[in-house]
Amino acid sequence: MENFSVSSICCIGAGYVGGPTMAVIADRCPEIQVNVVDLNEERVAAWNDKNLQNLPVYEPGLDLVVSRARGKNLHFSTQVERCISNADMVFISVNTPTKTKGLGAGQASDLRWVEACARQVAKYAKGHTIVIEKSTLPVRTAEAIQKILKSAHRNPSSDKAQCSFSVLSNPEFLAEGTAINDLETPDRVLIGGEDQKAIEALAEIYRHWVPDEKILRTNLWSSELSKLTANAFLAQRISSINSISAFCEATGADIKEVARAIGSDSRIGPKFLAAGPGFGGSCFQKDILNLVYLCHHFGLPEVAEYWERVVMINNWQQHRIARLVVKKLFGTVTGKKIGILGFSFKADTNDTRESPAIRIAKDLLEEGSNLSIYDPKVEIEQITHELNLQREDDTNTKKETSLTGEGAWKYASNIKDVIKDADAVLILTEWQEFRSLDWESLAPLMRQPAWVFDSRGIVNTEQVKESGLNIWKIGDGSDQ
Ligand code: NAD
Ligand code: UDX
Repeated sequence: MENFSVSSICCIGAGYVGGPTMAVIADRCPEIQVNVVDLNEERVAAWNDKNLQNLPVYEPGLDLVVSRARGKNLHFSTQVERCISNADMVFISVNTPTKTKGLGAGQASDLRWVEACARQVAKYAKGHTIVIEKSTLPVRTAEAIQKILKSAHRNPSSDKAQCSFSVLSNPEFLAEGTAINDLETPDRVLIGGEDQKAIEALAEIYRHWVPDEKILRTNLWSSELSKLTANAFLAQRISSINSISAFCEATGADIKEVARAIGSDSRIGPKFLAAGPGFGGSCFQKDILNLVYLCHHFGLPEVAEYWERVVMINNWQQHRIARLVVKKLFGTVTGKKIGILGFSFKADTNDTRESPAIRIAKDLLEEGSNLSIYDPKVEIEQITHELNLQREDDTNTKKETSLTGEGAWKYASNIKDVIKDADAVLILTEWQEFRSLDWESLAPLMRQPAWVFDSRGIVNTEQVKESGLNIWKIGDGSDQ
C-alpha cells in the first residue's frame, strides 16, 4: 500500500487540546509544518507572545516545547482559510460544550462549532485532505462530517471535483496539568476510520515518538464511543470513591486506608481513587451527559439512568461539603469570613471550567458568608466570570455585608490575606503549596474557634490540631 505523505497540518482550535497537541506534534515531526488556527484573536496573540509565561494555557513543560518549535514549524494564526487550503491533514479541535437551549438542552453536545469547521474545510480544502476529529464527539458525528464534506463536490461552479476527503476519529486522552507528559508518553493513541491509507498516514505521525503497539486502530464508531466511555468510567470511579468518603465519615473508617486496600487489588488498581470535592473540568460532566442523551436517543433509558447517577453523586458531594461547613460553624456562616484555597478544578492548571469550587462558593455565598479566594494560577476576572458576581471591593458594588445576609467575595493575592480573621479555611484544590502550610503560625491569625476544612485530604491533621484549630478532612471518620 502506497503511503500518503503529510507535509502540512492545520489544526482548527487553539485551545487546551489543540495548542499543546500540535506543539508536541511539531516538536516531534520537524519535517511537518503545523498551523494552529483560531477565530479568537486574543488567544492567538497569547500563543505568539514572546514571553512564554503568557501562553493562554498553563501546562508544566508546555513553554519549553513551544519555544523549540514556534516560528520554525509551529505557527499560530487566525488565517483559517489559507491554512486549510495548504493542509494535507486538518484536525478539528474545537469546543463541544453541552447545549444550553433547544433540543437536548442540558445534555446533548453543541456541535455548531464542529459543523462550522466541516463547512470551512469543505469550502477551502484542495486535493486529498484527511480530516480528523480531535474534539470529543457524539457517536456517529463522523457521518455528518462526511456528508458535509461530500457536498463540496456538488457545487458545479467550484473546482471541487478535484477534492476528496477521508474522515478519521482520533480522540485526545490528555488530562490538564499533565498534558505534555500525556502527549509525549501516551498509554495509547486511538485512530478510528475506514480508509486504511489515511489511518496509516496518521499513525506514521505518531510513530515518530509512540511505539506502534500503542497505536490502536478501530472503526469510526468504536473510536468515538471509546472516548465517551473512558471519561464515563473515570468519572464513575471518582463518584464511587466520593460516595464511600461520606460513608467513612459516618462510620469511623478512613477513605485513604480504604482506597489503599481496594487499590491493591490488581483488578481495581490504585489510580483515580482520591476522594475530593467532586470532579470538575470541561470534560467529565459534559461527556457523561452526552452519553446519557445518546442512550435515550438509542432507546436505552436504563443505561442512561445508570450513568446519570454518576453526575448526581458528584453534585451531591459538592453541596454536601458546603452544607457541612455551615453545620460545623454553629449552623450559620452569615457575615463570617471563610477563606477559600484553590479555585481551579485541580492542581497545575489555571482552568476553572466546572470546578467544584464554583458550586461550593456559590452555596456559601447563598448562606451569606464573606469569601476570600486565593488560587496561585487563577486570575480575578476568571473567578468573577465563574461566580457571576462582582467582588466586594469593586467600587461600584461596595456595600456593608456583615450581617445583611448577602454573601460577598474578595480576591486575595496571598494565603495570609485569606486566613486573617477567618472563621474557617476551606481547601478546594490540591496545589502543592497548600500541602505544607505552617499552621502553627497561621492559627493565631484566625478568629477562634476556627476550622480547617480539607476537601482534598492533603494537610497534616496532627499539625492542624496541635495549632489549636478544628479540622474536618474528607473521608476521615476518626472523630466518630
Ligand atoms: P477550548 O474551548 O479550550 O478551545 C477550542 C477553541 O476552538 C477556542 O479557542 C475557539 O475559539 C476555537 N474555535 C471554535 N470554533 C472555531 C472555528 N470555526 N474556527 C476556528 N476556531 C474555532 O476547548 P478544548 O478544551 O481545547 O477542547 C476541545 C475539544 O477537545 C472538546 O471537544 C473537548 O471535549 C475535547 N477534549 C478536551 C480535553 C481537555 O482536557 N480540555 C481533553 C480531551 C478532549
Ligand atoms: C479528564 C481525563 O482524565 C482525560 O483523559 C480526558 O482527556 C479529559 O478529561 P481532566 O479533566 O483534565 O482529564 O483531569 P482529571 O485528572 O481527569 O481530573 C478530573 C477531575 O477529577 C478533577 O476535578 C480532579 O480533581 C478529579 N479527581 C481526579 C478526583 O477527584 N480524584 C481522583 O482520584 C482523580
